[in-house]
Amino acid sequence: MTLIRSAKRMAAMAHRLRQRGKRIGVVPTMGALHEGHGALIRAAASQNDVVIVTVFVNPLQFGPHDDFRRYPRTLRRDVQLARASGAKIIFAPGVGQIYPKGFQTTVRVGAMARRWEGSSRPGHFEGVATVVAILLELTRPTHAYFGQKDYQQSLIVERLIRDLHLPVRFHRVPTVREPDGLAMSSRNASLSPVERRQAASIHQALNGAARRIRAGERDAARLIDGMRRLISEAPGARIDYVAIVDAKTLEPVWRLRGRVALLAAAWIGRTRLIDNLLVDVS
Ligand code: PAJ
Repeated sequence: MTLIRSAKRMAAMAHRLRQRGKRIGVVPTMGALHEGHGALIRAAASQNDVVIVTVFVNPLQFGPHDDFRRYPRTLRRDVQLARASGAKIIFAPGVGQIYPKGFQTTVRVGAMARRWEGSSRPGHFEGVATVVAILLELTRPTHAYFGQKDYQQSLIVERLIRDLHLPVRFHRVPTVREPDGLAMSSRNASLSPVERRQAASIHQALNGAARRIRAGERDAARLIDGMRRLISEAPGARIDYVAIVDAKTLEPVWRLRGRVALLAAAWIGRTRLIDNLLVDVS
């Protein structure tokens, strides 16, 4: 296991690996690793000669009221989890390594970034796209792994790779969940025991709607209504958005057909959680 802190060293190492013809998988993360990240690392390890996990809490993707400073930093444990899941290299640069003095160039993303998470968190996806482009350039992977948990982010990154002709294959890994269905997230740690039980309602709502779709329901408004009602039942829950969208474009659909994504974002107390499910409407 090699821990790399410097951007220059990372780029030199990646260059050597590429020259030796290695299949390199990269898993970009912000650390505070859990089994969701573990699944991405294991998927990468099963398909590549070398797996690089990047750990970088990216200031550019946090809004002024977000928790950049309070974001958990647990590098020692992250190294252990990454190693146990099959990573060979951890790239954990400081902010100055990624954003040199005078930094002023960013990646601007199109319409897909303005909806849903983008409208609740202005500038967020520009920050994500910029850091992902930098991390892919420094690690030069042949394969890159992202979680379906952040479905909109994964679509935006997939688009970024295509639009900028980056020579890397994109992979989306299914969401890893707790036994009660709650999607694993570093934010779950800030839920109180009562909130933790209520948080499961988000997945239950999505699941309930998926079941109704399979039973023949095709009216999005009725399904959204049902999901909103279930999530709102939890005291202290505040819905940000609940939507049914085309799985490729993220545009809302009203009569369901093709592949759709059910999206939800809600505050449980002071913690904002997101989740999604993909459903093929036959
Ligand atoms: P982070 O939240 O650390 O997530 C890193 C990767 O792990 C993302 O691709 C995310 O979708 C995936 N992931 C998180 N929870 C998951 C779960 N329960 N199941 C499956 N995958 C899961 O997302 C980011 O960091 C950042 O925005 C980043 C892409 C690293 C850019 O800074």
